[in-house]
Amino acid sequence: MTSSPPTPPVRLAVLVSGSGTNLQALLDASTADPDFGGEVVVVGSDRPGAGGLDRARAAGIATVVQPLASHPDRPTWEAALRADLTAHRPDVVVLAGFMRLLSGAFLAGWPDRVVNTHPSLLPAFRGAHAVREALAYGVTVTGCTVHLVDEEVDHGPIIAQEAVPVHPHDDEVSLHERIKAVEHRLLPAGVRALCHDELELVGRHVRRRT
Ligand code: GAR
Repeated sequence: MTSSPPTPPVRLAVLVSGSGTNLQALLDASTADPDFGGEVVVVGSDRPGAGGLDRARAAGIATVVQPLASHPDRPTWEAALRADLTAHRPDVVVLAGFMRLLSGAFLAGWPDRVVNTHPSLLPAFRGAHAVREALAYGVTVTGCTVHLVDEEVDHGPIIAQEAVPVHPHDDEVSLHERIKAVEHRLLPAGVRALCHDELELVGRHVRRRT
């Protein structure tokens, strides 16, 4: 890509619930590419044991943890998470395997600046078990989608998609690993484009600025 990187870099918050390999891909991309244009300034989670938190700590990045069970209700939980993130002044929030829904009140803090990666070719197989459901359905091709987040589950405008073939002897783990290998390329590329302000929203279509 040819556009010059923003100065200073766009501040990224990343939310994780799991092992954080997509977070790692973002960290690696931002380290390897001097023109990446974004810098992870905080990693948040709803799960104190999330492996992604260890990856953040190893990289010297601030972490925040807000378990849902520590709060009386979802709005209180979400407000606490939002306040924790806001303290680090992120410009963009990346959901990298974050398995909780976020309401419009949260998203309003970063309009069209919350990005998600999902392990299916949306709109197929929305939700928390996309890989399992694709296998059960018998599709021969699935994939991943990087998209802007709106108030509906796995629904917002699509930044990038890529197909991944299903092999005859795939199980959930083997298929998910191959999908993740693609996500590790697609998510950093999408976040980079957002950081460089290369994306324009027209209705629910994400266009590349020319
Ligand atoms: C990724 O495959 C991501 O697409 C998925 O969780 C995985 C996280 O892996 N997210 C969802 O299913 C959200 N609906 P990671 O923790 O190794 O990055």
